[in-house]
Amino acid sequence: MEEKKKIAIAIDGPAAAGKSTVATRVAEILGFTYIDTGAMYRAFTYAVIKKGLDPTNEQQSCLVIPEVDITLTPDHRVFCNGEDVSEVIRTPLVSSQVSYIASYKDIRIALVKLQQKMAEKDSVVMDGRDIGTNVLPNAEVKIYLLADFNTRVMRRFEENIGKKLEVPYGDVAYELFLRDRIDSTRDFAPLKAAPDSIYIYSTPSSKIEDVVEAILEKVHQKTGMEIPCH
Ligand code: CDP
Repeated sequence: MEEKKKIAIAIDGPAAAGKSTVATRVAEILGFTYIDTGAMYRAFTYAVIKKGLDPTNEQQSCLVIPEVDITLTPDHRVFCNGEDVSEVIRTPLVSSQVSYIASYKDIRIALVKLQQKMAEKDSVVMDGRDIGTNVLPNAEVKIYLLADFNTRVMRRFEENIGKKLEVPYGDVAYELFLRDRIDSTRDFAPLKAAPDSIYIYSTPSSKIEDVVEAILEKVHQKTGMEIPCH
């Protein structure tokens, strides 16, 4: 039997723009695998901290590369060396350090390799910062999801409350500001829209379903794929 062509949808954008919510829903409707690449950088950061090393030190952090085994499960759990780190990787400590780890070339090379392997196996919706530019430059559909800064801070602030993480609004704002700055100014694969990406701007009144429908419409246009009833 002829093997079905794999389709890739790349969703990039700054922190807390709503990528993972939208990507999860699109993947669910299309029956694709959702890959949260941010979770992989977060898991790596956790591994460095757990070893007692300093994530702001590139040399120390890169030493851990051969020891880190990261797995994403179909039910969206994240494992690092066999430990379920799904919750701990969202804590303020990891959030405040992850962009340093993500700026180190050797760590990116290792994780990108893993991400590309995942996309060879299945049709995927992958979200991150460099998916359309670097990880999957041939993705059929590339989305750059934006939202203004205050909307993003409020979204993350409310998400934290939902997870019983009490982080003051000002701290959330500072963390997002700093992370966006490090992510967009690093030398290697910075946060950037691919030239062929479609920009979607989400506002506080945008409904997730509208953003999801806009993406599904693009998938249909670009690939001819029939969108399942949902
Ligand atoms: O969910 P949130 O928007 O806070 O961020 P995330 O997707 O969990 O990503 C956490 C961090 O990982 C980002 O701030 C980047 O530093 C890094 N990252 C990256 O450099 N490249 C990616 N493809 C994904 C994440």
